[in-house]
Amino acid sequence: MPDTDSPVPQDRQPIRLLVFSASLRSDSVNGRLARLAATTIEANGGAVDFRPMADFDTPSYNHDEQDRDGFPPGADQLRECIQTNDAFVISSPEYNSSMPGALKNSIDWVSRFSPQPFNEKHGLLLSASPSMGGGNRGLWALRVPFEHLGARVYPDMFSLAQAHQGFNGEGRIADAQLQERFENNIVGFMDLVEASKHYPCVKTRWVEYLGEHPDPVTDRVE
Ligand SMILES: Cc1cc2nc3c(=O)[nH]c(=O)nc-3n(C[C@H](O)[C@H](O)[C@H](O)COP(=O)(O)O)c2cc1C
Repeated sequence: MPDTDSPVPQDRQPIRLLVFSASLRSDSVNGRLARLAATTIEANGGAVDFRPMADFDTPSYNHDEQDRDGFPPGADQLRECIQTNDAFVISSPEYNSSMPGALKNSIDWVSRFSPQPFNEKHGLLLSASPSMGGGNRGLWALRVPFEHLGARVYPDMFSLAQAHQGFNGEGRIADAQLQERFENNIVGFMDLVEASKHYPCVKTRWVEYLGEHPDPVTDRVE
């Protein structure tokens, strides 16, 4: 039964998402998109752990330094945030058709923890750029290390083109159609995170219902 006193709207079970912009710039367009993601998550019944990229910034990865001094604070904070939240949302700038070096460097550090925190974590990738591409090529590059590390990167990614003039005074996307698409993207991701956390039995049932026992007579050739 839904708890009407709960801050969680009617049919949403509790989920908490780490949200950050991968830009260190103070007036970052990705910072704006990350904040919009955070308010959208909260408006749709999720909790948010909002962090600045500065919290996760790290010196260049150096195996000798890791052996000598262990992990830098930025890597430890990102590890903890990944582990303690149900999923992560990153709004990342595109630098030279790829991800910013600072973000890749932090991912590299965190990948050295055992257990490796990104494994089986759901992630949603967003980008914003003044260009017409919206930084989308950078997100395709960013998928690669995350998928390599076993993260479950949501298929739909959202990229805001011409982002320097893309927001209205309330911090929403000025184009109403794009704003709606953004919200649908966020809510679709939240539904998946909620299902993964709270309804794992659905997954089992789904396999049982659709699945067939292997049988050479009925097995498809492919
Ligand atoms: C080193 C560097 C490389 C960049 N390369 C790209 C690029 O490949 N594609 C693009 O759309 N914008 C590129 N830009 C422009 C950024 O999209 C723009 O600076 C944007 O505002 C950065 O995001 P932020 O405002 O969140 O910091 C680049 C900027 C820098 C500093």
